[in-house]
Amino acid sequence: MADGAVPDGARAVAIDVARDAGAVLRERLGRERDVQFKGTIDLVTDADRAAEALIAGRLRETYPDHRLLGEEGARGSAEAEGQEGEASPYGWVIDPLDGTTNYAHGYPHFAVSIALERAGTLLLGVVYDPMRDELFVAERGQGASLNGIPLRVTGTDALIGSLLATGFPYDQAVRAEAAAIWNAFLFLTQGVRRDGSAALNLCYVAAGRLDGFYERPLQPWDMGAGALMVEEAGGRVSDFRGGVFDLYGHEAIASNGALHETILSVIHEQISGAAVE
Ligand code: IPD
Ligand code: CA
Ligand code: CA
Repeated sequence: MADGAVPDGARAVAIDVARDAGAVLRERLGRERDVQFKGTIDLVTDADRAAEALIAGRLRETYPDHRLLGEEGARGSAEAEGQEGEASPYGWVIDPLDGTTNYAHGYPHFAVSIALERAGTLLLGVVYDPMRDELFVAERGQGASLNGIPLRVTGTDALIGSLLATGFPYDQAVRAEAAAIWNAFLFLTQGVRRDGSAALNLCYVAAGRLDGFYERPLQPWDMGAGALMVEEAGGRVSDFRGGVFDLYGHEAIASNGALHETILSVIHEQISGAAVE
């Protein structure tokens, strides 16, 4: 296996486990949900936890030495046991249910998102939407696909002809910036969507269903798999200043490339400049 290459079998394992976790989410959607609050409006359900347990269990079993970072607290075997020694360069970043507010309301737009990074560089991204049976897969240098069909970003080069998406922070105290940017884009684009799944927003940019997406703050599990999807579909992903995208940098602007500088400049006009953690 070449340095930087996806470990043997990892692509198939990630796809399998994303599908299985997606089936758990789909099956539990109609049932009464056990909803708990992580913050005033930040939820977690029994389904998030069950899907993460399934994914983490399978990945730990297959790659016991790999690092693992799950939104609901899952960690790799070595990390969980506090084992001494050098950490593996490979790390899995998991969002078992991206779109949990949608899910808790029975709004059928959510996904499982799994990324694999090596020393911080994204190598593999798998996002599965169980309600539409849509499987997005990206592998560094190998392109991105939806149910096996290669993906390509749009060629839209005028903002007024574009469809964008974003999200709003759970922390209501920092929603003002997001509201100001949203307001600006409302008058400059064909439309702005807010549909509650950053992972799917990024996949939709890759698939040419959207021309761009921006949001902060975000967590690595919200954006890892989707960011690689956009890059492998020929798009561009950066931080809010146009710098190199950082998986652990809490923000992302993704676009078809052609609109990137324009999107950046509209956002720049609205932000105070302070990074949101
Ligand atoms: C959230 C979704 C949402 C985005 C939030 C995320 P969760 O993830 O991706 O679209 O606006 O910033 O936290 O909580 O549903 O996994
Ligand atoms: Ca998420
Ligand atoms: Ca989640």
